Amino acid sequence: MKSSDIRSRFLKFFEKRGHVIIPSASLVTPDSKGVTNSTLFNTAGMQPLIPYLLGEPHPQGTRLADVQKCLRTVDFDGIGDNTHATFFEMLGNWSLGDYFKKEAINWSYEFLTDKSEGLGLDPKRLHVTVFEGDDVAPRDEEAAKIWQEIFDKNKIEGNRIFYLPAENNWWQAGDNGPCGPDSEMFYDVLNKFNGRGLTHEEFVKADDVRDVLEVWNDVFMQYAKVDGKIVGKLPKPSVDTGAGLERLLMTLQGVDNIYDTDLHMTAMNKIKELSKNWNLKSARIVADHIRSSIFLIGDGVIPSNTDRGYILRRLLRKAIVNANGMQMAEFTLKELVSIYAEVYKEIYPNIAEKLEIIKNEINLEEERFRKTLEKGLKEFEKGTDAFVLFSSYGFPIELTLELAKEKGIKIDVDKFNEEFKKHQELSRTGAEQKFKGGLADANDPMVIKYHTATHLLHQALHIVLGDGVGQKGSNITPERLRFDFSYDSKMTDEQKKNVEEIVNEQIKKALPVNQVLMPRVEAEKTGARHFFGEKYGDEISIYYIGDTLENAFSKEFCGGPHVKNTSELAGPEGKAMFKIQKEEASSQGVRRIKGVLQ
Ligand code: ALA
Repeated sequence: MKSSDIRSRFLKFFEKRGHVIIPSASLVTPDSKGVTNSTLFNTAGMQPLIPYLLGEPHPQGTRLADVQKCLRTVDFDGIGDNTHATFFEMLGNWSLGDYFKKEAINWSYEFLTDKSEGLGLDPKRLHVTVFEGDDVAPRDEEAAKIWQEIFDKNKIEGNRIFYLPAENNWWQAGDNGPCGPDSEMFYDVLNKFNGRGLTHEEFVKADDVRDVLEVWNDVFMQYAKVDGKIVGKLPKPSVDTGAGLERLLMTLQGVDNIYDTDLHMTAMNKIKELSKNWNLKSARIVADHIRSSIFLIGDGVIPSNTDRGYILRRLLRKAIVNANGMQMAEFTLKELVSIYAEVYKEIYPNIAEKLEIIKNEINLEEERFRKTLEKGLKEFEKGTDAFVLFSSYGFPIELTLELAKEKGIKIDVDKFNEEFKKHQELSRTGAEQKFKGGLADANDPMVIKYHTATHLLHQALHIVLGDGVGQKGSNITPERLRFDFSYDSKMTDEQKKNVEEIVNEQIKKALPVNQVLMPRVEAEKTGARHFFGEKYGDEISIYYIGDTLENAFSKEFCGGPHVKNTSELAGPEGKAMFKIQKEEASSQGVRRIKGVLQ
């Protein structure tokens, strides 16, 4: 059976039992829907359905089934072993206040074991767990009874049902949302126990060493949690089930790892073909991380230094380091995109549709990272600290930790975190933010005009008063700009007139205002004005006024926003009218200009 067979059998099975098939939601969680969602991605099939499990009516009814794309970053560390994956698909059937334990458990059993409609697994190799009870919820004797009846009816002998604590048999989606006890199904993939029952201790050990593999989880949603506390029962009990496609596939294809299934096989072969110094763990990391990256980019994420974009960057950069270690040909990671697009073309056609975009993003990130990779690796060998590797060479901390672990080196994570925090605070108060903070309303068209006028003024002051001028502050309202700068003496009328003329000249010239993004090291080389001694992030936004960055009248590190062309600062008849209304001392060695466009 292939991956596509499992998906279609699953959906058909539940469709026949009254379920409406719904498509997978995006990997990216909406920022506000029903419940506060602190996760960046869907980590389980249930996530997009949380509001409905809590009682909101679903437009498609009360019985649903789907295959949901998921991404789990907690599993980053485990990648390279047999079963962990960052991206995976979860098959699920849902009762939204419709059926409960009896139907859910019976259908799970039927789908797993039925030869014609289900997966045809051997019921003698099946073991299940149920919730043992605590002060929140009682021991789930009801679920155990349902299972026992099934085993008896099918003449499955021996001890098959194991009571376990909340740690194992309680499911919740973070601190807020629906939750309840669950019942999990395990399969003896390699038939180690010859179809016999197990003692409690035997089962716990078998689970530990993965002699039995969890293949499905039926959650009986009954309670609602707010901030980690149960606040009451759900209006109607619901069912959330989740079966990992990759694991079912291993079970059916009789292999002990997910990379030998049809989902990864072609990509794994390709990686081998492209690598001079191949090794299994690195190849698995490349396959896993590139597949996840493909799906993330497919769902609109692009590499960056924050939130979702950072997770993507981490995945890609780790893949690049591992590819590099195997001497996989440079800039060939993008070749894996077509392979995965082919594997997933029926269920996720968006990958094939966005093929070029995805290839391009992956290649761009490889280009960006390769600029500093070799140097960074050399610095790492020399023992350079993790923060420098991060800020100057673009090594995500997790990557440095991983490299260090392989070499048996210890990294001072606390020190990194401290420096990182400092760095974040500084960039928050950094030039970009200083400017944004200085804007009364970054959406007001007049404020935007005054913002561009401020850049023109700043440069004009440099021309007239010399390079001793440095920006000390800025505050912009729809009525005026205010600009503080270091300078020792009062400006003469002549100087003020000069400055006004220079600014107005640039307005008359109708110069384009452009933005470029580039790595900090390169940005510093452009000569664009910025606050010295200020720490900036890895990627800098520069605004320049003029045709090219080289011949620009003004260039500054700045987050915007600005007008598109300086002609927008002119008055109704196209007349340029920047005026210095006031020039005064603001503090020792600092002058303040108030200027208007009249
Ligand atoms: N939400 C349950 C899980 O992810 C089914 O295991």
